[in-house]
Amino acid sequence: MPDKMWRVVDLLDWTVGYFQQNGIPNPRLDAEVLLGHLLEKSRLQLYLHFEMPVFQEHLTPFRELIKKRIAHTPVSYLTNHKEFMSLDFYVDERVLIPRPETEQLVETILMTETGDFQRLLELGTGSGVIATSLAVQQPEWEIVATDISESALAVARKNAETHACAAQIEFLSGDLFEPIEAINTNGDTRFDWIVCNPPYIKNTERAALSPDVRDYEPEVALFAGDDGLAVIRRLIAEAPKYLTPGGKLILEIGAAQADTVRTLLDAESAYCTYELLEDYAGKERVVLASIS
Ligand SMILES: C[S@@+](CC[C@H](N)C(=O)[O-])C[C@H]1O[C@@H](n2cnc3c(N)ncnc32)[C@H](O)[C@@H]1O
Repeated sequence: MPDKMWRVVDLLDWTVGYFQQNGIPNPRLDAEVLLGHLLEKSRLQLYLHFEMPVFQEHLTPFRELIKKRIAHTPVSYLTNHKEFMSLDFYVDERVLIPRPETEQLVETILMTETGDFQRLLELGTGSGVIATSLAVQQPEWEIVATDISESALAVARKNAETHACAAQIEFLSGDLFEPIEAINTNGDTRFDWIVCNPPYIKNTERAALSPDVRDYEPEVALFAGDDGLAVIRRLIAEAPKYLTPGGKLILEIGAAQADTVRTLLDAESAYCTYELLEDYAGKERVVLASIS
């Protein structure tokens, strides 16, 4: 970035060009989000302050952000923010960046006719977006959220504290249902809902992923064996033991996994009904299964 007097508009134009030359997708959006983050202004406010000069105290850290973005660090890891269900969440490299399509899990749960009180288990909570947004919407519900990654759980706790629902969520660490077994001393710990957005990418698809994802997001949040179903298979087999009668399992799955998931559900006699819900692009990305 050449030394000169920079205004917001010049800085954005220069950065967009530089991002384009370096193959960064969404160059204008990224430039605006990063500059807005540094100047503590929304994108709209940036437009309203197009002529505002930007001084050295901001130019130096902005150069650093640009360098990191060119190296494919995801924007959300640079700003430490991601919006989910209209709430602001802290994220960093310890957790998967929440995706907008995952909101469908939360919306489906909230739209399902239930009693006032529900016990809900979220497995693989990551940044805690699913558990926290449900707790905010349903303050009466009792929620347990787990993850195999202790460092992800630290982020989830921080987000629950920010949104004033940490007391409503019990965070446990361990492999899938293992931490539930540990508290299940009487053998009667059961939930009305089990929700999970599991890792579901095939190990063999690693090379095809964008560097933003492959080189920065936690491996344990992404990959699930050679067929991508290692975690989903276990969830479908083990969940009925932890559901109340009539309880529901709801999962996000990969875009090409619906047929295999149907076969897995058909093979489990505990499920009395199930449906695969389409996302806005018409792909079956959510499984909702009930036990009798
Ligand atoms: C795809 S991320 C989902 C994170 C978050 N729930 C979301 O939707 O943004 C999957 C999460 O599952 C966790 N995980 C992976 N394998 C697990 C296992 N065997 N037991 C518990 N958690 C696991 C990962 O650490 C990661 O946080």
